[in-house]
Amino acid sequence: MDINIPPIKISHILWTCLIGALLIRAFYRRWKHQKIYSFMASLPGPVSLPFIGASFFLLGISSTNICSKLKRFVKKYPGVAVFWEREEPHLLTSSREVCNAVLSSGNVEKFYHYRLFQFATKSMFSANGTEWRTLRNIVNPAFRTHVLMQSDDNLDHHVKIFVNQLQRHVSDDGFDIFVPVHLCTLDMICDNMLGARLCNQENRSALMCNSLTEWAEMTFERTFSFWPDFYYALSGQGNATNKLININHNLIYEMVEQRIRKRKALLKESQHSENSRIYIDFLLDNLDAGVLTKDQIISEMLEIFVAGSITTAITNAWVFKLLALYPDIQERAYQEIKENCVDGEVRLNELSKLIYTEMIIKETLRHVGIPFTGRYITEDVQVDEKMTIPAGMNLLICLHELHHDPKYWQRPGKFYPEHFSPANEKARPKGAFIPFMSGPRVCPGNKYAMRSMKLLVASTLLRYKFSTDEKPTDDLRDMDHRLVFMLFPASGFNVKIQHR
Ligand code: HEM
Repeated sequence: MDINIPPIKISHILWTCLIGALLIRAFYRRWKHQKIYSFMASLPGPVSLPFIGASFFLLGISSTNICSKLKRFVKKYPGVAVFWEREEPHLLTSSREVCNAVLSSGNVEKFYHYRLFQFATKSMFSANGTEWRTLRNIVNPAFRTHVLMQSDDNLDHHVKIFVNQLQRHVSDDGFDIFVPVHLCTLDMICDNMLGARLCNQENRSALMCNSLTEWAEMTFERTFSFWPDFYYALSGQGNATNKLININHNLIYEMVEQRIRKRKALLKESQHSENSRIYIDFLLDNLDAGVLTKDQIISEMLEIFVAGSITTAITNAWVFKLLALYPDIQERAYQEIKENCVDGEVRLNELSKLIYTEMIIKETLRHVGIPFTGRYITEDVQVDEKMTIPAGMNLLICLHELHHDPKYWQRPGKFYPEHFSPANEKARPKGAFIPFMSGPRVCPGNKYAMRSMKLLVASTLLRYKFSTDEKPTDDLRDMDHRLVFMLFPASGFNVKIQHR
């Protein structure tokens, strides 16, 4: 009897090998990361597909819908949830207990998305391990109060220009305050951290401000994008983001060179006193010592420009917009500032008296501050008896949800500065409000940010009254936002001003 054996095709062999290899790989991964797989199985989260995990959720994401998409996701899985983004395991959390446990542990690594925020070389914001520790140790002393206070005259100088320049908008039927405020925060950062006067405000030169904001928005969009890096390289978007950052890179390169020349001249004349050192000098000491390269210093300066100027500009602009929406709160702030100013001016050494103004800034940060941050877990973290987060997990911390958790906030969706009255602050448990994060990777610029914002807000409110045609929403969480580091109002920062 003839047995008819069909011929074996080469394609059948290849398919069998491929499927076999994939199965072996899947079993190997499960065996190697058993702890992670059982942790993932113990918590709620969306279904995962092979290779892409739950990333399909990110399809069609753009800077204008990231916030609403992520909000819907967090609402569906409140507290803690897990998901795979491609083959990376993620824990999404807004739990204070989880955040406290992770941020106070030795886990200081940022997760892989931060690679997109690096410039020519890794800077402190995106660096990990020894590279981060070296940079952080170098710059920490530059953020001490006595070092920052040397630049008080600069802050005053730029705020005065800002307040005077607003004058031209008094008869306008509304204007967007973001660019003027960003020009001011850029001039301040440049003067205080790099020792150079940019005069963006006087020249009304928005090139730097527009390119940095656009770069930040595109980078955030890419961070949450479904598409892999090569898609950006092929589509030309990668080049577009590089061009935006190069505009600033070249300018900063020039200013760093100038500072190097100035230091040399001062050293020759032995005039470079310990007391006149600013941020850039702490970096340049390490260039001289061979610890840092010039490229690293330029990347570090670029990072300070982005991290320091955009965040403070958005917060200030929001304060003005929110006070325009809530005239009663604006009036109370004005009365406080008027009572505490000296000769019609706000003084930096009197800022501690402006308690209500500070409450307003904090309430603003609660609503519109950085909504998400991420960490990579390098050592297991025990949260409580029930939960240990295994090493190898990526953590996506939802600060926005934490800052609206009804357990800690009487009126989560309202603009209610009383949340930050001294009594309420005292009663709130540790870690419920962390707009600058906490632990070793806390924002080093937090003191500088609060001082400079308080001065700018108070000096402006003393001269102008803000109003708007917009009506406040019942719940501030219902507003539409773009993501530019922080929440940026989709409707812009349109306000009207009149003289006090
Ligand atoms: C309203 C103003 C600001 C807010 C809300 C803010 C918030 C934050 C947050 C939440 C982080 C942690 C990010 C993360 O862990 O992923 C951070 C890091 C950082 N911030 Fe700020 N920041 C502000 C202003 C500033 C200023 C004025 C500077 C510099 C002058 C600055 C420099 C940095 C740097 C260099 C890091 C990275 C630190 C590290 O990874 O070790 N920030 N900021």
